[in-house]
Formats: sequence, structure tokens, C-alpha cells
Amino acid sequence: MGQWVRLCGVAEAPKPGAVMETGAGGREMCLANVGGELSAVDNLCPHRQGPLGQGWLEGAAVVCPWHSWVFDLKTGESQYPVHERVDVFPVRIEGDSVMVEIG
Ligand code: FES
Repeated sequence: MGQWVRLCGVAEAPKPGAVMETGAGGREMCLANVGGELSAVDNLCPHRQGPLGQGWLEGAAVVCPWHSWVFDLKTGESQYPVHERVDVFPVRIEGDSVMVEIG
């Protein structure tokens, strides 16, 4: 079982269509809002550790700002190139906090 920790306040979370860098539990994360639904993935791109939270959304995927690798926010799998992935962290809202499950 993982542990649920506070990632940020609901008011600080990205608006629909936006991403941001954040972190919790010693992990850097990219928090994204796709159509009002929040997703959290590892912030560090497996290519050269680019900051995914400084990237942008294409549909339900985040694009790395450095060399444009694309990661599905639900599965963490890359759409380009294939066979790469980032960790995905379950997200839920508790009161005015955005919580993520780590570990
Ligand atoms: S560091 Fe992300 S695509 Fe190169």
C-alpha cells in the first residue's frame, strides 16, 4: 500500500489545459489538468531529465519541453518514442487539498 500525501491546494492546481511542476514525499511531479481531471506523473523525463511540468498538453498527454517526447498521463507510457515511461501517481481531492499516493 502506498501513502497518500498532500501535493498542493486545490486553488494552486493547474487549470484545464495546463501543467505545472510540483512535488511531494521527496518526488518531483508534473501535475496536469485534462478537461478538469487532475493527473500526476514523474516530473523527470527519462530521456535527459527534462522537466515535464514545464511542458504542455497534447490531448491527454504531456509533451517534454526539451526534445518533445510525449507521455500519456493515465498510463505514463510514451507515445513517442515507444517503450519509455514515467511513473503515474493516483490523485484525489480531500477538502481543499490535492492528494497523491506515493510509494
Ligand atoms: S529530456 Fe525530455 S525529451 Fe529529452
